[in-house]
Amino acid sequence: MAEHLTVGRVAELAGVSVRTLHHYDGIGLVRASARTAAGYRAYSPDDVERLREVLGYRRLGFGLREIADLVDDPATDTGARLHRLRGLLLEQRDRASAAVAAIDTELRGRAMGIRTTSEDQLKMFGARLYETIGADYPATRRTEPRIAARVWEALGDARTVLNVGAGTGSYEPPDREVTAVEPSAVMRAQRPRGAARCVAATAESLPFEDQSFDAAMAFSTVHHWDDPIAGLREMRRVARRVVVFTYDAGPPGWRDRFWLTRDYLPEFAGLLDDWPSLADLTRAVGGRAEPVLVPWDCADGFFEAHWRRPEAYLEEEVRRAVSVWTRVGAEAEARAVDRLREDLGSGRWAERNRDLVALDAAELGLRLIVA
Ligand SMILES: C[S@@+](CC[C@H](N)C(=O)[O-])C[C@H]1O[C@@H](n2cnc3c(N)ncnc32)[C@H](O)[C@@H]1O
Repeated sequence: MAEHLTVGRVAELAGVSVRTLHHYDGIGLVRASARTAAGYRAYSPDDVERLREVLGYRRLGFGLREIADLVDDPATDTGARLHRLRGLLLEQRDRASAAVAAIDTELRGRAMGIRTTSEDQLKMFGARLYETIGADYPATRRTEPRIAARVWEALGDARTVLNVGAGTGSYEPPDREVTAVEPSAVMRAQRPRGAARCVAATAESLPFEDQSFDAAMAFSTVHHWDDPIAGLREMRRVARRVVVFTYDAGPPGWRDRFWLTRDYLPEFAGLLDDWPSLADLTRAVGGRAEPVLVPWDCADGFFEAHWRRPEAYLEEEVRRAVSVWTRVGAEAEARAVDRLREDLGSGRWAERNRDLVALDAAELGLRLIVA
């Protein structure tokens, strides 16, 4: 018992509340394996080692469920896990330093009466969005088998496949040799055990030789790239076949296609301002675009997935796994959710969208580019 620490002492040293430690114990995340004579929880050195890891991942913004998977991963030992945690913490430190530097520059500019452009304000977060929101991703984002089948069919007889902007790997074909590319450390850390090898890189600069893969695929990621056209050209360079699941942001009619953006979230339009047209995206790889309908019970919780299940958008968990909600800002999000809640309660949503109930799948602008 000599090496054990009481719950109060652990809380004091680690800077967390006793209540938090009790909660972790209660859900089996970090158990205190002993009790003092007075009946208080006591932590052994092994318990503390585990707690230290859990708190590290908490600081990085991971959810408790993801943390449990990370610390219970039988494929890694404590040393390997500490290296991973160290890498993630260093990245977070670098990002914080970059953000502080950007704020300092803005403050200096303001003192001289110079206003920072909207673009520069956002660059502070830029492509690192997934470092912030990525931990909430796996809660509702998973393979939709009917859409996966379309992607895998489009890959043809490709044996080697590069998955760009791979995230947690939801659409990686299980029967081919896959290499993943994913810039976000938070997303890479959440790839399941046994997932394909994953390289830390961006689409715009793929670290591979020309024509080194049979096919390159990108699913629901192109709209996050700094330069979508450059990224698509890179895919074309490294692979003989290219398959891209993306969104047609162009006129005519995108505004009216989806009730959520039409009636509740007009701010979505602002996200599309710099977005290349489907024709430009298709031209960059030299292919054709096919519509992909969204099934009414779509298993992958992307933005449009719940078009016939509007109550889902009231759930925080559903929204947090979709970047649109973070990108439009908290005010627009709160207003959209409040209005939707009201309209669901009053029957106004049902009245306006009564035609949807009869549909099994909807055309909401999703496209598969195949080249
Ligand atoms: C909506 S997630 C899609 C993940 C995965 N393809 C899926 O369908 O589950 C978008 C992913 O694109 C990644 N991403 C952002 N910028 C990127 C870039 N420049 N190059 C490659 N991937 C990028 C993000 O880190 C994130 O993992």
